[in-house]
Amino acid sequence: MATVHEGVDALREAAGKEWLSWTRMADFDGAPPPILVGGDGPYVYEADGTRLLDAMSGLFTTQIGYSHGPELGEAAKRQLESFGFYPNWAATSPAPVELTRRVTDLAPENLTRAFFTSGGSEAVESAIKLVRQHWLGRGEPLRRKVIARRGAYHGCTLGALSLTGIPAARAPFEPLLGDVRHAENTDRRNYRQAVTEEEWSDAAVGAIERTIVAEGPHTVAAVVVEPVQNAGGCLTPPPGYPQRLRELCDRHGILLWCDEVITGFGRLGAWFGSERLGFDADIVTFAKGVTSGQAPLGGVLFTDEVATPLLDQKAVYAHGFTFGGHPLSCAVALANLDIMERLDVLANVRTLEDHLGGVLDEVAEGSDLVVEARGCGFFRAIELREAGVLAAARDAIRAEGVIVRLDDRVNPCLAISPPLICTKEQIDEVGAGIAAGLRRAA
Ligand SMILES: Cc1ncc(COP(=O)(O)O)c(C=O)c1O
Repeated sequence: MATVHEGVDALREAAGKEWLSWTRMADFDGAPPPILVGGDGPYVYEADGTRLLDAMSGLFTTQIGYSHGPELGEAAKRQLESFGFYPNWAATSPAPVELTRRVTDLAPENLTRAFFTSGGSEAVESAIKLVRQHWLGRGEPLRRKVIARRGAYHGCTLGALSLTGIPAARAPFEPLLGDVRHAENTDRRNYRQAVTEEEWSDAAVGAIERTIVAEGPHTVAAVVVEPVQNAGGCLTPPPGYPQRLRELCDRHGILLWCDEVITGFGRLGAWFGSERLGFDADIVTFAKGVTSGQAPLGGVLFTDEVATPLLDQKAVYAHGFTFGGHPLSCAVALANLDIMERLDVLANVRTLEDHLGGVLDEVAEGSDLVVEARGCGFFRAIELREAGVLAAARDAIRAEGVIVRLDDRVNPCLAISPPLICTKEQIDEVGAGIAAGLRRAA
């Protein structure tokens, strides 16, 4: 329930001293950032009691919303009371073992192995190293390059940032890893000469193929893609693209890696986005939704084929984090997956995704500020004509009671990814809040 949080003034005073992620701290040098103190269903409460519909699920994390704390807390308590933490260095404990079984059961059949981390960037970092050791083990040390796509975000640690194709995110830290190349993403506007969807798909796969050929296929270790690319505004590939990409990788003996940090665990209405789009990856990175964000966890899923060279050569996977696969996080993940299955959130997404798409299309048609609405499942974006109006639009939508995210990294977009438990009425509330906010901003 909405209550004014006690000690809110003291909290506000201290809040400006905490350095926030990806935040221009000068903005909060006098006024504190928003402070959220509770939640209920898809809603969160600010310290002064204001209720907001969190149409961003935190940060693409909170699949089950905010009402399941007691059940998740029970799972965490059981874990701490039974054993607590033990590192997974050359040993393991029941929670990570059980989560490995659960996640590999939910994943496409070919993904039989799991390595756990604390989050998405660590997962991406781990996959880069796994890929390199895989090819070393196979006696192909020249295969070190990873092809990523322009505009894609793959994380902020230096290895993961090297894959990230967003110039402004990279610039302060360059030079980054040299063995990365960026190819064109699937944005329809990159392929204006293509008339049909098939031609679009051909041209977009062709852009990756040209990069592979230019580099020399024998030097390419992996191609990494998000099934639907977030940055740029939910760039959903044309039909046939994922399958053709799979064929392309097979033709050149290259590993296909899906970064499913956002699209994994239900956001597209299937456990994994690659499953939803109908293609197999050799490697999948995940994080966020596996615990609904209620505990830090990420990981890498991979095939027996990826694992085999390290096993055959009795090589050490020379990588690991003290807190990777923390049993507390694994226990929370298992409880989260129980709740997701019990509530059948995947079916909810599939039932309501067209409604969400329709509501956002209507918003787009009704506003001169908007280029279009795009996306798949409960993973959506509205692209605006001008970046200059984004902050005003985001703030006005918030004043209407709905949280969306400003994303100007590639195209000027508002990101919309509601909790997977949202009802039709709550989706209508999201649409009404965005429409009213855009009217105000205009
Ligand atoms: C596709 C993708 N990969 C990796 C990451 C990095 O994850 P994290 O922020 O948990 O380090 C993100 C974060 O949003 C992401 O969207």
